[in-house]
Amino acid sequence: MRIARRAERIEPFFVMEVAKAASALAREAAAGSQPMLYLNIGEPDFTAPPLVQEAAARAVSAGRTQYTPAVGLDALRERISGWYAQRFGLDVPARRIVVTAGASAALQLACLALIEAGDEILMPDPSYPCNRHFVSAAEGRAVLLPTTAEGRFQLTAEQVRGAWNERTRGVLLASPSNPTGTSIPLDELRRIHEVVKSHGGITLVDEIYLGLSYGAALGDAAEADARFGHSALAIDDSVISINSFSKYFSMTGWRLGWLVVPEALVPAVERLAQNLFICASAIAQQAALACFEPESIAEYERRRAEFKARRDWFIPQLESLGLPVPVVPDGAFYAWADCGEFARQLGISGPRASWDLTFELMKRAHVTVAPGRDFGTDQTGRFIRFSTANALPQLEEAVARLRALAR
Ligand SMILES: Cc1ncc(COP(=O)(O)O)c(C=O)c1O
Repeated sequence: MRIARRAERIEPFFVMEVAKAASALAREAAAGSQPMLYLNIGEPDFTAPPLVQEAAARAVSAGRTQYTPAVGLDALRERISGWYAQRFGLDVPARRIVVTAGASAALQLACLALIEAGDEILMPDPSYPCNRHFVSAAEGRAVLLPTTAEGRFQLTAEQVRGAWNERTRGVLLASPSNPTGTSIPLDELRRIHEVVKSHGGITLVDEIYLGLSYGAALGDAAEADARFGHSALAIDDSVISINSFSKYFSMTGWRLGWLVVPEALVPAVERLAQNLFICASAIAQQAALACFEPESIAEYERRRAEFKARRDWFIPQLESLGLPVPVVPDGAFYAWADCGEFARQLGISGPRASWDLTFELMKRAHVTVAPGRDFGTDQTGRFIRFSTANALPQLEEAVARLRALAR
């Protein structure tokens, strides 16, 4: 059978291959051996809080399960708009919000609405692999620009200006980022957006981890310059923001997210959403209304504090193991660690060091991590991503095992 070139262009998601190998190894392991620790996981280890679960059950038993409007329930769009006002002090009218089946559908809609065949989209290297594939599925081309620790592994306005050519259509970046957990300072993003606007391009910002922002300082130190935790929507109404109920709201498998677009783009996105998805899950939408109740928000904030406490403990531990994290993550639940020296100690080197180290850690320490390979090509052979979406005792156990291995 002939497969369309657009599908052939999509690379495998290597994190999934690693996860499969880890599960197989965990199954084969003899009874009594160490249980596998999954520090490769990209989703919260919490589920939806009680009010949200109850709201879902009520929606099902009351039969409120029919299709909703393609852009989502008005009540949910209003609640999301209220959240922007309350949490970020931003006026984001509900009519600019389109509810989607996760950030994944939001990204797909944005790319299909804006990218023509052959258009190039500038993205940071490293970045979340699926984002470049949304671009290529829309027949565009993702152009990965190498980033540095000094630039928090984010694009700079200078880079965007230098890389822009007649085929460039815009930029797509995530802040905080997956895999680095680092955000772009709002001022730098503003400068990027000015460059983009001067060319009549588009700025897409994936803010799926924005709710899980903690600032860059470890411990109790107050974030002096307050550079992080702001939505790109503060810059201007032409910025497109992608968001989700998956991470801060702990609802990965419910498949719910949203897109904020300039008003003029709503009709095109609505047409695409009607035809491609009809709507996001009605049950998930009814349930998500309860996310914004004070009791749920209090629970989400408790979890945010828990993620911060894990980061504060884990990053210095990695450093002490010889796995330096060049930039302290200011959000999300990831640590992007340079594993070059650690790998060398185990006799592993070369351009695939992080890939080989991943399998070595899996086999010898029963600790699974995500190798850099998925996230780009520049230096990714030297980096691994740890996820702190694991309770502190599991993180402690992982550190103890890695320490024993390096000895
Ligand atoms: C940066 C980034 N964007 C988008 C997604 C997709 O999220 P969703 O579950 O909302 O589709 C993920 C998932 O891990 C992600 O890390």
